Amino acid sequence: MCGIVGYIGKKQAAPILLEGLSKLEYRGYDSAGIAVRDGDQDPAVVKAQGRLSVLVDKTDGGRAVPGTCGIGHTRWATHGEPTETNAHPHASDDINVIAVHNGIIENFQELKDKLLRNGYTFQSETDTEVAVKLIDYYYKKYQVGPIDAIAKTMVRVRGSYALVVMFKDYPGEIYAARKDSPLILGLGESENFLASDVPAILDHTRKVIYPDNYEMVRMTTDIVEVYNLNGDVTEKPVTEVTWDAEAAEKGGYEHFMMKEIHEQPKVIKDTINSVVKKQEDLYTLDLSGCGLSDDEMRQISRVWIIGCGSAYHVGVCSQYVMEDLAEIPVRVELASEFRYRKLGLQKDDLVIVISQSGETADSLAALRKAKELGISTLGIVNVVGSSIAREADYVLYTLAGPEIAVATTKAFSCQLIACHLLSIGFASAAGKIDNATVQKMIVEMLTLPEKVEKIIEDKARIQWFASKFAHASDAFVIGRGLDYGIAMEGSLKMKEISYIHSEAYAAGELKHGTISLIESGTLVIGVATQPDLVKKTISNMVETGSRGAYLFAITFSGNYYLEDRADFVTYIPKTDPHYAASLAVIPLQLLSYYMSVNRGLDVDKPRNLAKSVTVE
Ligand code: AGP
Repeated sequence: MCGIVGYIGKKQAAPILLEGLSKLEYRGYDSAGIAVRDGDQDPAVVKAQGRLSVLVDKTDGGRAVPGTCGIGHTRWATHGEPTETNAHPHASDDINVIAVHNGIIENFQELKDKLLRNGYTFQSETDTEVAVKLIDYYYKKYQVGPIDAIAKTMVRVRGSYALVVMFKDYPGEIYAARKDSPLILGLGESENFLASDVPAILDHTRKVIYPDNYEMVRMTTDIVEVYNLNGDVTEKPVTEVTWDAEAAEKGGYEHFMMKEIHEQPKVIKDTINSVVKKQEDLYTLDLSGCGLSDDEMRQISRVWIIGCGSAYHVGVCSQYVMEDLAEIPVRVELASEFRYRKLGLQKDDLVIVISQSGETADSLAALRKAKELGISTLGIVNVVGSSIAREADYVLYTLAGPEIAVATTKAFSCQLIACHLLSIGFASAAGKIDNATVQKMIVEMLTLPEKVEKIIEDKARIQWFASKFAHASDAFVIGRGLDYGIAMEGSLKMKEISYIHSEAYAAGELKHGTISLIESGTLVIGVATQPDLVKKTISNMVETGSRGAYLFAITFSGNYYLEDRADFVTYIPKTDPHYAASLAVIPLQLLSYYMSVNRGLDVDKPRNLAKSVTVE
């Protein structure tokens, strides 16, 4: 995700901003920029595409940009390519208002239209520029001060933001606002700081204030004031940060993987909201952002889903959903196999390539092969501007933000959501589901973040189980139908970070050979969520239990009869069974994580693995 740093004091701001941004590099970014004010002069703005070192060189380590008040940003592209124009800070045309922003303005198009009607023009493709110009609009229209102009903007803007703003008429002051995106205020002696995360300021101060949602900030060299939406100053406690710098980068979590597991409710919500719009009381799916029209969706006669590793598992889970809702035949192929086979692709097929990095060599080659054959391609990609995003005919972005741990968690969850959205879109365009069903499915999808949160809150139970089974040498993860796809992902997680030999099996297939491996104490994890298959999966689990296996079941709450059949049951909140993977995968992520920790392994950087596999 993007990084923010702000400084006001007696020292030169630019070197402090650059140093602070360097402490946030671990979050991932693709461009950076700073704006620094020297007294009441207009701010000097410098931006650079690529690494922070480019910005450091461009500003001679900050020395070329004098001034004691400034804001800085590292950008992880969400709206618009990672170019210098799209990099922050963004300013109103007369530099009356200049700001950096983390988060996503969901209704930016509607706000942009309003501003265009009022004579504003736009240089970048970003939602941030819209927020900046909206502040400028209210500031001028109502002739109010910065806090009132920001408050009026906050009332209009939907989405998440940490905004840090400077106003031309208020030299020596920095303003800020937040909702659902992190923002901290660092208190120094005759200097103060703002940042999106603690590491950026730890070298200067350990005294921080955490503004809450819908709060605003006014900061000078000596004053830090926090305001509520009514414009009243509120008392905020000052907290002493006790973490070391390394722990701070992980937001206080021991590993990036755990941090990313906890980010899932938010990024799932962001990904849903990037496509789902609400007009009056009705939800609509707006897939125009990815370029696919209803007509094009109607013409698709077969879908291929291609990916590697976890991205492939998203495809395995999603084929059941897409086939069931849209009644389109779906084939799921490993990219490394797809690229070398003659699979009889036809003109009205659609090839969907799923990739977090957008750079996986096999997935990219598969995409290119489909394009050579003249087949339409759609990328489900997390990294904006990556090769797959650039080369696919259509792109649906997942809004997971940068994923640092090698084992994917939050990107996987967002990819699932993207596929659910497409399934509903295809089904509705083809008239296979009516609008009432669309409404019902979206309303249920919007409950997933809260349900994921609930499962994560209950992690201590899984932690307990993991400590009991951390020394297992073999595990089998089984399920039928969609649950088989979830089992594949759970099994991969266990292999890659816990180094436990684990196999995913279609539950009904075990007795055709593999059941001979079951012996006393073998761990069998059964995923049993699909209503018409739960009983069958349980029978298959019981078959292994009677041969000595220890049975761990994951099922929807309400299926309490599993208590008598399994040794350990984890219940996930009830949801539409099409969405089961989004919930059932969470206990499996937690289980692998805790097993890895128990075994003393390098959770975030497992041996022999790379985050992005750019070789064949
Ligand atoms: C999953 O935890 C792995 N890191 C791996 O299987 C990954 O999903 C695969 O390499 C695909 O990567 P991509 O999504 O960047 O294409």
